[in-house]
Amino acid sequence: MDLQEAFEINKNTWNKKAAIHFESEFYDKHAFAKAKNSLNSYELNALGDVKGKSMLHLQCHFGQDSLSWAHKGAVVTGVDISDEAIKLARNLSKELSLPAQFVCCNVLDTSKYIEQKFDVVFTSYGTIGWLPDLKPWARMIYDRLNNGGIFYIVDFHPIAWMYDYNVTPPVMKYHYAREEAIYDEYEGTYANNKSKMVSKEYGWNHSLSEVVQSLIDAGLTINLLAEHDGSPYDVFPDMKLQDDGLYHLKDGLYPMIFEVRAIKA
Ligand SMILES: C[S@@+](CC[C@H](N)C(=O)[O-])C[C@H]1O[C@@H](n2cnc3c(N)ncnc32)[C@H](O)[C@@H]1O
Repeated sequence: MDLQEAFEINKNTWNKKAAIHFESEFYDKHAFAKAKNSLNSYELNALGDVKGKSMLHLQCHFGQDSLSWAHKGAVVTGVDISDEAIKLARNLSKELSLPAQFVCCNVLDTSKYIEQKFDVVFTSYGTIGWLPDLKPWARMIYDRLNNGGIFYIVDFHPIAWMYDYNVTPPVMKYHYAREEAIYDEYEGTYANNKSKMVSKEYGWNHSLSEVVQSLIDAGLTINLLAEHDGSPYDVFPDMKLQDDGLYHLKDGLYPMIFEVRAIKA
């Protein structure tokens, strides 16, 4: 398959999604303008105090998380393939007087656009599934980190991507570590399931061992690997809000979230 064509199709879909998401209840721009925080306990606990640290935020969407880190004192650069998302992020940064840089590029090409090295590289919730191969991704992360710098990812667990969600109830259809792309076309988005927009997208499944091994092979030292049942987001079918404030699968059969933190020693 032609990867550039796949990235272009994904970019077009994300351009449409960005505009819809910006206005959605899910991303609640009014609440964000007040609180200036869209971050969850996983990433806040894992990264701790970021005041004064330089941070590269990969796949930053329209910038709420990037600007949340900026509000906490980090000096943030966000990267995303969607020019619409980057435009919205720059506008939001101005509107809320939360300075940050935003760069539009394929995350795999980050080092062609950004020479700076960072104290922290961060990426979260809905990221590596858009990338065909994690080896160049991990090498780029290594290259963009200062010595002693930290990489942190928190994302949906690879088991969640084994299901076809276009049928009710969802059926397990895709291999845990499937190499070929999965093409999907559906109406609506996770942030607005009533929207009539049609998402056309290519995605790739990555096992936990692929994530961890590509970071190790790139030269990073893993110091946190965790799997959790609770998701901050209610984006899969049959989830229920529990006392911990997170959404769990009603049948509780598998974890919804994983985290990996690594250091460039
Ligand atoms: C689910 S969102 C990330 C969610 C983010 N945590 C948030 O809620 O703000 C995925 C983002 O990845 C971006 N993206 C997808 N493929 C990409 C690629 N190859 N390079 C850079 N960004 C990409 C999309 O444009 C989108 O903004």
